Amino acid sequence: MKRVITYGTFDLFHQGHLNLLTRAKKLGDYLIVGVTTEHFDEARGKVNVIDSTLERIENVRKTGLADEIIIEDHEGQKIEDIQKYHIDIFTVGSDWVGTFDYLNNFCKVIYLERTPDISSTMLRKSRFRIINVGIVGTGRMAPRFLAEDKYVSGIHIVCAYNPERESGDAFRQKYDLPVYSEDYEEFLENIDAVYIASPNETHYGYAKRALLAGRHVLSENPIALSKRDMEELYAIADEKSLVLLEGIKTAYCPGFQQLLNTVQSGKIGEVRDVEACFTRLADPEARERTDADYGGAFLEYAAYTLLPIFKLLGTHYKDIKIDSILDEKGLDLYTKIQLIYEQGMATAKCGVGVKSEGQLVVAGTEGYILAESPWWLTKKYEVRYEDPSVIDVFEPRFQGDGLRYEISEFASKINGLERAAYKLTKEEIMAISEITEHFMKMRMEQRNQ
Ligand code: CTP
Repeated sequence: MKRVITYGTFDLFHQGHLNLLTRAKKLGDYLIVGVTTEHFDEARGKVNVIDSTLERIENVRKTGLADEIIIEDHEGQKIEDIQKYHIDIFTVGSDWVGTFDYLNNFCKVIYLERTPDISSTMLRKSRFRIINVGIVGTGRMAPRFLAEDKYVSGIHIVCAYNPERESGDAFRQKYDLPVYSEDYEEFLENIDAVYIASPNETHYGYAKRALLAGRHVLSENPIALSKRDMEELYAIADEKSLVLLEGIKTAYCPGFQQLLNTVQSGKIGEVRDVEACFTRLADPEARERTDADYGGAFLEYAAYTLLPIFKLLGTHYKDIKIDSILDEKGLDLYTKIQLIYEQGMATAKCGVGVKSEGQLVVAGTEGYILAESPWWLTKKYEVRYEDPSVIDVFEPRFQGDGLRYEISEFASKINGLERAAYKLTKEEIMAISEITEHFMKMRMEQRNQ
């Protein structure tokens, strides 16, 4: 009996998939089909697969061509499977010619001709209209967005906006993209959505005007500096059925999701303490070190450090204490936020002029999680127990610089795929806004003393 194996994502199952499976089946007597899991797809950079793993398996099953369906969830699995299932032939479409030649050491490798003019990528694009995005602000974040958006199909960056003509011109020349400098409303006319990466104090104004003009908004955090402003933006977005997304990248990183799942599955017992620290010695000439009103450690990093706390202990804390070390201008070089809960406590530390160990520690009744810097991208974390010789190490894959996951979430939401809404909830954003407002008032009072 000749045993054949093939692998694929099989998203939005199409004729090309059917032809491939039909031909694969004909190569032998028994066909095994490996379907990739969502995590594995994300790890490989396919961040916007639409059908769930179960739907994709079901579609393969319905063809009646597979004698067995297995799950593919890690690199190197193909070699294991070939030996485990005593495979004679490994086959995939001709788009992979050469890639799997190394498997010839284990079985015969056959590349089958690919069906022309159809692919899941094409279907994803045609199913959802292209979202034209304009970037507000042409500073540090804009080039990163331009580089990462290529990994998310359906997003097309068409122009940028910067009221400072000189910086706008430099950007236009470097990236060959139209840059508007005068009329923001005119800029909005050309797009479906904005990505706001301008200075902190301008986020709210740009977001509000974009929403009022019927444009979806993805903004760097903080979007608003008070709870009332944030509520107002949500109200406009809800009324106009628009997406309003805050760019706290960590929330959308697959590794961070996995870390939360590890805790929620009870591996460390009940969570009693969360400590999150994020510091960077910023350039003394940079905005975050010079702008006493809207720079500083809190506005730069507090949202990132508060995120795991709210995710793991909830937003209903009993008490809060915020302490800062200010420079001579009144800008916070280092800020520590302490939260007390009914059954737990938490500390968020952030710095732009003080350096500390950037780690996330989640203490539980049966063990703890340690995620070292850069935990905000969550490339690795460990679960440790009373017995120091037992350590479970998790190394989720992470691609690019994290922005692609956020952009993918934005595109999914605009396309009405609400499946990921739990990653950063309105309740969590409102809780962050409340603390931001509290901090801004406190800093103002301290300065006036
Ligand atoms: N395939 C094919 N002909 C097509 C599309 C896919 O023969 N027109 C084959 C691929 O070569 C692979 C299998 O179907 O062996 C599963 O491919 P998959 O990557 O799931 O499908 P694509 O449509 O190529 O997906 P994407 O656009 O996301 O890369």
